[in-house]
Amino acid sequence: MALELLKLPVDMRRACDAARARGESVGIVPTMGALHEGHLSLVREAKKRAAFVVVTVFVNPTQFGPSEDFGRYPRDLPGDMAKVASAGATAVFAPEASAMYPPGEETRVKVGSLSVPLCGQYRPGHFEGVATVVAKLFVLAGASVAVFGRKDYQQLAIVRRLATDLLFPVEVVGHPIVREADGLALSSRNAYLSAEERQKALALSKGLTAAARLFAAGERDATLLRDAAFALLKPAATSIDYVDVADPDELTPHGNGAVGERTLLAMAARIGVTRLIDNMVLGEEPPPLATK
Ligand code: PAF
Repeated sequence: MALELLKLPVDMRRACDAARARGESVGIVPTMGALHEGHLSLVREAKKRAAFVVVTVFVNPTQFGPSEDFGRYPRDLPGDMAKVASAGATAVFAPEASAMYPPGEETRVKVGSLSVPLCGQYRPGHFEGVATVVAKLFVLAGASVAVFGRKDYQQLAIVRRLATDLLFPVEVVGHPIVREADGLALSSRNAYLSAEERQKALALSKGLTAAARLFAAGERDATLLRDAAFALLKPAATSIDYVDVADPDELTPHGNGAVGERTLLAMAARIGVTRLIDNMVLGEEPPPLATK
């Protein structure tokens, strides 16, 4: 079946309603487009769990700060459509901003404590914008399953909370980070990197790997784990927003104490002018680079 392009919220609602009326389960993969293999793995995961898979392609203005990259965020709807069709999607929802935020709109989803640490400290309002648009997408789709990438680990935790708190009957699935062979986590923002910056960007996954090796050897001191990642990131980064070890469910940073048997190690740094994030859950996932 040909991939359907839906532009209006009312069309999205109708298409998803019609799918459910035919007895098909609906899955949603929210994205901002500029799709890469990481996104396509989300589409394939959704396709395993739902018959009708809608990929949303919307660069959501409310989640960008005034000095962030909303204007230059990569956009390629024809390319995205070809990619998601090959990954098994049924429809693409690519609305205009004015359709998602009609004139006079002023309602936002308020997010709680999960939005305070990590990226929340550096991107005020970001998670409120994410939660608002995701709630709108959930309402339109009435999906039974939604697939998000674990690269945006904090976003995933907030979306899970949102679905529970607002009683959305949707299963939120977190899909593992997809990486290049050399460890770089796939991201639409990697397109901003020069060849030299791309090399430097490997410091994020190298930092995670260094901390994972210490953790595997029994180290549980939060400061030492953080320092191991920081030491590799520091020489490569233009600036570092944070390298933190935190509770993987509540996201509260561990400070200088001992970490548990599952610990989130998360980081955000600028390589050149490009802000990149990466993370892993120590004790739960293998490190980005094979350990020797
Ligand atoms: O992860 C993203 O691409 C965005 O934050 C999302 C979830 C599509 C909301 O705009």
